[in-house]
Formats: sequence, structure tokens, C-alpha cells
Amino acid sequence: MNSTPSQSSNPLKEGLSSRPLPRPCNVVIFGASGDLTYRKLIPALYNIEADGDLPATTHITGFARRPKSDESFQHELGDALSKFSRSGRSEEIWKDFSNRLHYHASEFGNPEGYRTLAARLDALDKENGTAGNRLFYLSVGPSEFEGILAQLADAGLNKTIDGAWARVIVEKPFGRDRDTAHALNEKVSKVFAENDTYRIDHYLGKETAQNIMVLRFANSIFEPLWNHRYIDHIQITAAEPMGVEARGPYYESSGALRDMVQNHLTQILCLLTMEPPADLSADSVRDEKLKVVRALRKMSPEQVARNVVRAQYAAGVVGGNDVLGYKSEDRVSPQSETETYVAYRTFIDNWRWDGVPIYVRVGKRMPKHGTEIAIYFKETPGVLFNAQQAGLGPNVLVFRIQPDEGVSLLIQSKRPGAQLAIEPVKMDFHYKTSFGKPSPEAYERLLLDAMSGDATLFARRDEVDAAWTFIDCIEHAWHNHPNPAPMASYPAGSWGPKEADDLLAADGRVWRRL
Ligand code: BG6
Repeated sequence: MNSTPSQSSNPLKEGLSSRPLPRPCNVVIFGASGDLTYRKLIPALYNIEADGDLPATTHITGFARRPKSDESFQHELGDALSKFSRSGRSEEIWKDFSNRLHYHASEFGNPEGYRTLAARLDALDKENGTAGNRLFYLSVGPSEFEGILAQLADAGLNKTIDGAWARVIVEKPFGRDRDTAHALNEKVSKVFAENDTYRIDHYLGKETAQNIMVLRFANSIFEPLWNHRYIDHIQITAAEPMGVEARGPYYESSGALRDMVQNHLTQILCLLTMEPPADLSADSVRDEKLKVVRALRKMSPEQVARNVVRAQYAAGVVGGNDVLGYKSEDRVSPQSETETYVAYRTFIDNWRWDGVPIYVRVGKRMPKHGTEIAIYFKETPGVLFNAQQAGLGPNVLVFRIQPDEGVSLLIQSKRPGAQLAIEPVKMDFHYKTSFGKPSPEAYERLLLDAMSGDATLFARRDEVDAAWTFIDCIEHAWHNHPNPAPMASYPAGSWGPKEADDLLAADGRVWRRL
């Protein structure tokens, strides 16, 4: 009997190099009545099953406060699946899958609930030969983490026997600054080893995000150009037409910087700019990402004022509908000073990226949904075809993370005809048409990885800490400095405030149109 937190890892299957093979296990979702379970987690597990990748003996238990029978839980999930599953719902698959869904009602702080959970899981193990493997998914607010972890430990659910494993998946936010993240990680580490802690960032599970590494390191033509000698600047945009919906209280304590930049966009930036890892194991990849986050320039309050724009949406029109301003949203303070948009200019202070500006913007209530990275290469010398004053314009490589996932490259070409006229044209790769089938949802890939012990696409503790150090400088300048940069405003349905355009205009550049 092993009485320490399990140290599971699976070196043979680790990394992006091979398809993960999940091991049979019991999945337990804490917060099973929440939106994430209905919209993402169960549809993801169902689609893993539909693709034939979920071991037949894997069972899923929802743990939440509300009393409910297995049958009514299954019924609710069945309805949700019809709405949210990317492949719809096949009755044949659903019949088998739904029989493996269970519900366990308990307060999160009630020890009895965990003792009975342990007994249920043991019984399922015996029935199905799942060998004691457990995957706990904390789909709950951060205020619940500590209590659930302590109860799991008291009930011995973090302990394993005979080579089995117990892992925990933690949803963001991982703290609200470096100190709280540190305190949270300390608590987690008392119950689960770092190897068994999977901090989920669903952007890393997106197909195009994973393709950044493949494009860079499986092709010989890009890497020689991937540095300050050939790249002029980089733009990253994450735009969504949605407002804060029903998440007012969460968003009020977060804002766009903590909600999207500390995690998703920083992770994407790391994949884009890191050095080639020594191999494709989880730690080699994460070692390289960590170096990038550490090299992100930390800004003084004066630098924040010059390089970061924060803004909040006012009432406006999105998709032809009138929408409220942020301050009038449900459970948002009418005096709120929370940003729903951020744009900033940053630099990675290392050899490869010296002097290359990276512009990032993220916002809610934008006119369109779209996340993309645009790499602007330096222009050709100002002779021959580029001798005109206006210039030909740069080559631009674009990763469309979503929607319409793909990659395009803007190149200059001669327009057919007797005259010499040069025009930019696009070489375009679309996932949908090239591979003829929809990409799996991010949560499918990440759940599969967690079940197979591959942490490559999950954030490691030191990465999270380092990302907070970068964010904390900006938050500090906004909230603790005597002269903080003012909050700008933009009408819902616009591309953000004028100040964000000015940020690029000052460098002679403009934001790319999505
Ligand atoms: C979440 C944020 O992590 O990501 C949300 O909390 C945001 O505010 C969402 O809307 C965006 O995810 P996606 O996959 O729709 O781009």
C-alpha cells in the first residue's frame, strides 16, 4: 500500500509525439450541477466515447449539493448533450454512455459525503476492474478548492494502491495574483503531487494552438525566420461578441487581464515564441514556456501607462441587437472599474526576440468572434519591386485559432497582365476542408491527456507563478498607484477604444482587421 500522493507519469505516452492512450478510471466531477459540466465536460467525455477512445470501464460520477437521482442526472445530461455535443447524440452510444454516469449528492464540506463516495468508487472498481485509478475534476469556484482537497485527503481518496493513480484537474482562476496563486498551489501540493496536478487551460487544447508547435518544429522553412532579424512585430487578438452574461460577480473580481491574459493568451504566446524543446515530454515543453514567461518585460507603473490600455464597454449594438453597457449588467456594480478590454505592447527580453513588439488585445462585446495570431515579417529592402514610397507591405503569417481554424500566409504576387502590378494574395489552409472533419473540442483532448497521464498541455506551477508576476505589475499600476492610467470606454459592437489604436499608431502600425 502506497500512502503518499501518487507520482504518476507515463513517459512512453507523454508528449505531443504520440496519441495518448487513456487508462480506465473513475472520473469524479465536483460541481456537477454547473454550466461547465453540461456544456463542456459531459459533451467532451461523450465525444471521446463516440470516437472509441473512452475505455469501456470508465465511469463518471457527478458530485454536487443538490439532491438528485442517477436517473434524473442522466436525463438532464442527455438533454444538454443534444444541445452542446459537437457530434449530436447517437441513441446507441448514449445508451451505453449514460449507464456509466452516476450522481453523488453531498455538501462539499461534509466528511460523510466523501466516505460514501470512496465506498461507491471502490464498488465501481470491483465491478469494472478500474484498478483504483481516479481523476478528480474541480469544476468549482476557488473558494471551494481548499475544503474539497482537505476532504479528499481525509477520506484517503488521494492515496493509491499498487501502481494506480489519483489525479486532480483544477480549473482557473489559479488565484488572483502571485501570492494567492502561491497559497492555492501550496494547498494543492499537500494533497496531490505536482505530477498529478493538472491545471487546465482550455486554449492549450485547441487544435490550432497545438498546431503552432507542429508548424514551427515540423517544417524547416519557418524556424530560420522566427526571430528579431526577420519578424517585425506580432499581433494577438482574442475578440468575442458576448458580454459577461450571467458571470457578473466572477468577472467583477477578475476583469479581462486576469480572465484571459494571465492564462490563455500568455500560454499561446509561449508556444509561439519558445525555443525548441529538447524533446516532446511535458517537462521539456514546459521548461521552454517558462523561460518565455520569465523573459516577458515587467512594467513599471509609468510603462504600464504608456503600454497598456484598459477599457470597459458602454451600451451599443452587437449583431444587430441593442445591448447594455457593462455597468448595467446583472450583478455588476454601477460604479464598476473592471476592464472588459485590454490592449498592450510587450517585449520578450531574450536573444531571439530582442526589440520585437508584441501587441495583444482582448475584449468582450466586440463585433466578431475570433482569436488569431498574426506574425508580421520585415519588408523586403526598398529596391526593385519595393522601391515605391508606399512600400509593398509585409508578409503576414496568420494562425486562426478560432473559428474557421487554419493558417494563412500573405504573399506578394504579380497580377496577370502586360503591366507590372503587384498585389498581396493569400495562401490559405482551412482545417475543415483539408482534413474533412471537425476538430475535437479542447476539453476532449485535455481530458484524454489527463486520463493518460500526459501533462504537456497543462500549466505547471512555476509557469503560473511567473505569469502572475507579469500580470501583477499591471494590476498594481492600475489599482495601487496614485496616478493610474484612466479607464477608457468603447461602445459595445466596436473594435475597442481609440486609445488602443493610438498605441499602435505611435509605432506607425495598425491593428489587423479580423
Ligand atoms: C474563459 C473565460 O476562460 O474563456 C471567458 O473565462 C471567455 O470569459 C472564454 O469567454 C473564451 O473561451 P473560448 O474558447 O470561447 O474562446
